[in-house]
Amino acid sequence: MAAKVALLALIISFLLAASPANSERRGFRATMIRRETAINFTRAARQSHERLSMLAARLDAAASRPSPQTPLRVDADGAGYDMEFSIGTPPLKLLALADTGSDLIWTKCGTCASCAPQGSPSYYPDKSSSFSKLPCSDSLCSALQSESFATCSAGGAECDYRYPYGLSTNSHHYTQGYMGSETFTLGSDVVPGVGFGCTTMSEGNYGTGSGLVGLGRGPLSLVSQLGVGAFSYCLTPDASKASPLLFGSLATLTGTGVQSTPLLIGIDTFYVVNLQSISIGAATTAGTGNNGIVFDSGTTLTLLADPAYSAAKTAILSQTALPRVANRDGFEACFQFSNGSSVTLPPMVLNFDGADMNLPTENFFMEVEHGVLCWIVQKSSSMSIIGNIMQMNYHIRYDVENSVLSFQPANCDSL
Ligand SMILES: *[C@@H]1O[C@H](CO)[C@@H](O)[C@H](O)[C@H]1NC(C)=O
Ligand SMILES: *[C@@H]1O[C@H](CO)[C@@H](O)[C@H](O)[C@H]1NC(C)=O
Repeated sequence: MAAKVALLALIISFLLAASPANSERRGFRATMIRRETAINFTRAARQSHERLSMLAARLDAAASRPSPQTPLRVDADGAGYDMEFSIGTPPLKLLALADTGSDLIWTKCGTCASCAPQGSPSYYPDKSSSFSKLPCSDSLCSALQSESFATCSAGGAECDYRYPYGLSTNSHHYTQGYMGSETFTLGSDVVPGVGFGCTTMSEGNYGTGSGLVGLGRGPLSLVSQLGVGAFSYCLTPDASKASPLLFGSLATLTGTGVQSTPLLIGIDTFYVVNLQSISIGAATTAGTGNNGIVFDSGTTLTLLADPAYSAAKTAILSQTALPRVANRDGFEACFQFSNGSSVTLPPMVLNFDGADMNLPTENFFMEVEHGVLCWIVQKSSSMSIIGNIMQMNYHIRYDVENSVLSFQPANCDSL
């Protein structure tokens, strides 16, 4: 009995020590690298709509709704951001797509002869002294099983996953393998026991890295596994520079200009906020209503559903004093522009619930080809997404624990 009481006391003190309220939160600093040096807007448009199909399909799957989306093509590449980290002992440095729209962390494992992406380094579990298989009884495997993404084999010693990124009706966008536990190195910090997918088979477009790091809200994501409660990033437009990706106590916004808006809860994985309206010059146009808008690191352009899209486009067209030119690649507000002339473009402000994002002009107008300036927002037929160009040079903090999204204008190169 005494032994039992002592054990209980030990368990309680352990739980107290582990609980966030009673311990100083750890902080980690990692970096992200922009893939493309110059944005190819034809490709960016295609990538963004593919990404939209994927996110909408996941949302519909989560809500058990049949999805109206068309299947993904798997041939495109985009201007996403790769996270830099190391895995294993000795550490192997890898780049993998940083993705706020999904949860699983995975890397190509072994020869992975028919895996996408090809050409990038692969991780070999037998060359690392800190690798172990995650048993089926592990809570991360249960999380996968609850979504029918995993099965057990080897008498429960192995958790085999098949994690889809597209539609269930399109079987060509997934990653598959067995779950493992490894030591990750983020910046200078060593983090043992991170559950990840050791991928032996995959199809789809994950860019040029070795896999993907899920930064969503579910239990499998890096954010959840680190137990840090919050993370932030600041995307630099300069592909030759690293963008900081900060976790826990390092993910703080200080000084002036910080604004915050609630993250809508009840929506798994994604970071959704309420966009009440959009101000364009003198006009205030519709927001995205009850559907909210997703902050996504993996989509390049911003995609707005109607009525928000059409109303904002009309306001842009009527307030931009430049000759209009033909639409291209889904851009419907394009103008002739000669780089010597000074032009005044209308300001664009995203009015969230309790926070206004007064965008720098270069976050919503870009020269998509020589002499052609376009409003780089496109129409969505389903959900609305704030893509990574619009997020550039903001320090954006996702407080997962308290469901708050905050942002602050920043020079990401010097953060
Ligand atoms: C941009 O991407 C498209 C589609 O992938 C490609 O056909 C085109 O050649 C690219 N343009 C440039 C300038 O690289
Ligand atoms: C302006 O256009 C000329 C070619 O017409 C180009 O050489 C120059 O780099 C451009 N300047 C800027 C600032 O884009």
